[in-house]
Amino acid sequence: MIRIFRLKNIISIKDFEREDIEYLLDEASKLENIAKSKEVSEELKGKLLGLMFFEPSTRTKMSFETAMKRLGGECIGFENSGSSSVSKGESIADTAKMFEGYSDALVIRHELEGVSKFISDIVDVPVINAGDGAGQHPTQTLLDLYTIKNEIGYIDNLKIALIGDLKFGRTVHSLSNALGLFDNVKIYLVSPPELRMPQEILHDISKTNIKYVEVDSIEEIIDDVEVLYVTRIQKERFADIEDYLKIKGAYIINKKMLEGKDLIVMHPLPRIDEIADDVDNTKYNKYFTQAANAVPMRMAILKTLIKNNPKQ
Ligand code: NCD
Repeated sequence: MIRIFRLKNIISIKDFEREDIEYLLDEASKLENIAKSKEVSEELKGKLLGLMFFEPSTRTKMSFETAMKRLGGECIGFENSGSSSVSKGESIADTAKMFEGYSDALVIRHELEGVSKFISDIVDVPVINAGDGAGQHPTQTLLDLYTIKNEIGYIDNLKIALIGDLKFGRTVHSLSNALGLFDNVKIYLVSPPELRMPQEILHDISKTNIKYVEVDSIEEIIDDVEVLYVTRIQKERFADIEDYLKIKGAYIINKKMLEGKDLIVMHPLPRIDEIADDVDNTKYNKYFTQAANAVPMRMAILKTLIKNNPKQ
């Protein structure tokens, strides 16, 4: 079957059809060799990727840079708006228009939901949302699905627990929406009552054939799942630090809890204290593999968007 990828921008996973996701999963596995062997191809030779990171990032920014360089392209940009003219009062729109003039695609991370969408409406080059506040983080979801496919072997019929900050964690918002495109997925939503999954996402997934349940403790579900997807409590999104301190450390996964279980542990990282260090050297640890998978998946994304863009 010949698959096609329809999207010009990657703003929200809600814009995807299952086929778009499958296209990128296939492309990423074709690019594994280059990513793993640390070779450089010439697919995007002469192309420039613009990185506009208004919020901190380690993995997302570095893996976009690595992906672009392995495809033979180069990157320009900034990683905190203090080092750009935004700090002098330049509008985001003007900054983006200027970047458009220099680059073949833009990657944007911002603390406000909707900023990538706004920029995609005013520039002609492809725009990739690398996280917008507590909104979406679609490219993280694509590499999460790639990891699940590689490690578990399937996404249909998956049983997965999303644990931690389901209210502010954008990775779990995008992932829930994406899983709704697959068949017969069961999601256990494990969080303190204050950090439950937003109603809007519950509403979205209730329209799919996902089955979900909200629970308070990991013990209730640990024997039923193939994936524990653990998240950080998003300290920076709390209006009152006291509220954060009350919840901090609510769920901690350690080696003892996992013994004898048939599951993997994923985490978009950075972790604070949600996964004890003693899990790192066990077969359950797939969070570093997941981080490494960012490179082939983001190579697939860049190659597809930049080559598909008729203006290139
Ligand atoms: C996540 C993010 O920025 O949303 N990190 C990432 O991109 N790998 C998760 C987080 O910050 O907790």
